Amino acid sequence: KRRIGVMTSGGDAPGMNGSVRAVVRMAIHNNCEAYAIYEGYDGLVKGGDMIKEMKWEDVRGFLSEGGTLIGTARCKEFMERDGRRTAAKNMILKGIDALVICGGDGSLTGADKFRAEWPSLLEELVEKKELKPEQVAPFKHLNIVGLVGSIDNDLSMTDATIGCYSSLARICEAIDSVDTTATSHQRAFVVETMGRHCGWLTLMAGVATGSDFIFIPEKPAEPGWQENMLTIVKKHRAMGKRKTIVIVAEGAIDTELNKVTPQQIKDILSGAGLDTRITTLGHVQRGGQPAAYDRMLSTLQGVEAVKAVLEATPETPSPVICMIENKIVRRPLLEAVAQTKEVAKAIEDKDFDKAMRLRDAE
Ligand code: F6P
Repeated sequence: KRRIGVMTSGGDAPGMNGSVRAVVRMAIHNNCEAYAIYEGYDGLVKGGDMIKEMKWEDVRGFLSEGGTLIGTARCKEFMERDGRRTAAKNMILKGIDALVICGGDGSLTGADKFRAEWPSLLEELVEKKELKPEQVAPFKHLNIVGLVGSIDNDLSMTDATIGCYSSLARICEAIDSVDTTATSHQRAFVVETMGRHCGWLTLMAGVATGSDFIFIPEKPAEPGWQENMLTIVKKHRAMGKRKTIVIVAEGAIDTELNKVTPQQIKDILSGAGLDTRITTLGHVQRGGQPAAYDRMLSTLQGVEAVKAVLEATPETPSPVICMIENKIVRRPLLEAVAQTKEVAKAIEDKDFDKAMRLRDAE
């Protein structure tokens, strides 16, 4: 029986449990065995009880749970070759030669590196007499399949990452709450949102809550943004609006690549006579139950990931499972990561039009 490992890695995201459930059940449905790797790459390096066979009923109730029930961690050992060799050994001892990983681009790139090194890691294990040649012989290739789990929606080649719609819903709920108190006092609020270097959460929250102004990394604040923002805010007030909501992404910058901070924005709004408060939403945005969309996305992608494992040949590049125009599709993992890095590079080079074009091309 083929044995397939599943793990979650990097920052948690609502919907990750749905992907674990789908991988486990689809694997069993296809007459394979499923193994959960606990605490991300840490579990792979530690081995033993951290790699546990999962039966159909072990993932019962996973679909509606937030976070990741099998844990996630940042693992320094896996960054070193010695750590990856130990991870390979642990996998072989458990008979696992396929891994489905739900995580961000860093976690997925690490996984593909592991795949590329796999044959040489096995050679080393034999040379160092940690495993016998006959033990490694059946495990010639490692299959890696990526699922993108991140609230940031920052990976190219997919319209949505697992978790982004739950986070967006959480942000909207929070801003709705801020709205009522803002309106009561006729106040202004600067709301800081997560997203790392990606403005998707902020842009969508701006549209979904009808905020007055937003700041995102891909469209940096241009010189004179302070006056521009005030003109718009004053216009809205003149039309009878009793509140002002400005949403600023944590990665927001100006065209000189300086950070635009909530405090700066607050000072400008206060200077114009508005009673202003800052609300940092923080990890509330990442917590709680997954929205229906993320339950659906993680399930469909988990199913596709197992299909990809079963259809893989040694020549197939590691795929990442994506959602493009409402279709579940496979894309080459490394190409998706490379395109994502191009966005960051375009911003660094101050080629903001290119950054926006690349984001659009997603
Ligand atoms: O990538 C998800 C994310 O929540 C980002 O939006 C944020 O910048 C970061 O992780 C926070 O990381 P940590 O939980 O390690 O503080």
